[in-house]
Amino acid sequence: MIISPSILSTDLSRIKETMELINNSNAMWIHLDVMDGVFVPNTTFDHNLVKEVSTMTSKTLDVHLMVVNPEEKVLPYLELNAEYITYHFEATTKHLYLIDLIHKHNKKVGISIKPNTNVEELIPYLPLIDLVLVMSVEPGFGGQSFMPSATSKIDTLVDLRTKNNYHYLIEVDGGINNQTITHVLKADVVVSGSYLFKQSSFSEAVDGLLAKA
Ligand code: DX5
Ligand code: ZN
Repeated sequence: MIISPSILSTDLSRIKETMELINNSNAMWIHLDVMDGVFVPNTTFDHNLVKEVSTMTSKTLDVHLMVVNPEEKVLPYLELNAEYITYHFEATTKHLYLIDLIHKHNKKVGISIKPNTNVEELIPYLPLIDLVLVMSVEPGFGGQSFMPSATSKIDTLVDLRTKNNYHYLIEVDGGINNQTITHVLKADVVVSGSYLFKQSSFSEAVDGLLAKA
């Protein structure tokens, strides 16, 4: 299992210190929550912070775009050193265009689904994509409680992948701590934000999550 810490709940004026914590831990990815204040009620950061982070680490950057019309907003992210670009299924209808655009820039493409969106909606795109991000909270804010409906979505995605020999990774995001992680052990990548950064030792907290896998 890969742990992808979300820096959403950290103090961005201390990004250097935050990056040191992540760099000195066994977390292999870094999850970057881009919010536009339209797709979700909150606004966070844009490509400028992603660019800054990319100069501070050799970990895999996992960009989660919570923006409307991602086909119009994605371009600056495609120029950066970020491996995975994930957009929201609900934010666009231009899926084939976006998947192709992101792949043409040699990036991996992910699609995220909100808690009320069914996995079945993704079926036409599953052969084409590199990651499915299952939201286990309503996107917008860190620190919410894990929604157990995510578990059966992960199971369905595992079954569909096995049956059809698809290659996507399954990632889960929202409310993950050392208890709720036991409900998402079939996921390949687990995002955790407020839980990890609240512990007295960040790297021990990451190891604690890895030990459950
Ligand atoms: C929510 C974000 C999450 C969030 C996770 O919209 O996509 O990545 O930062 O934070 P926690 O782990 O606090 O739920
Ligand atoms: Zn996220």
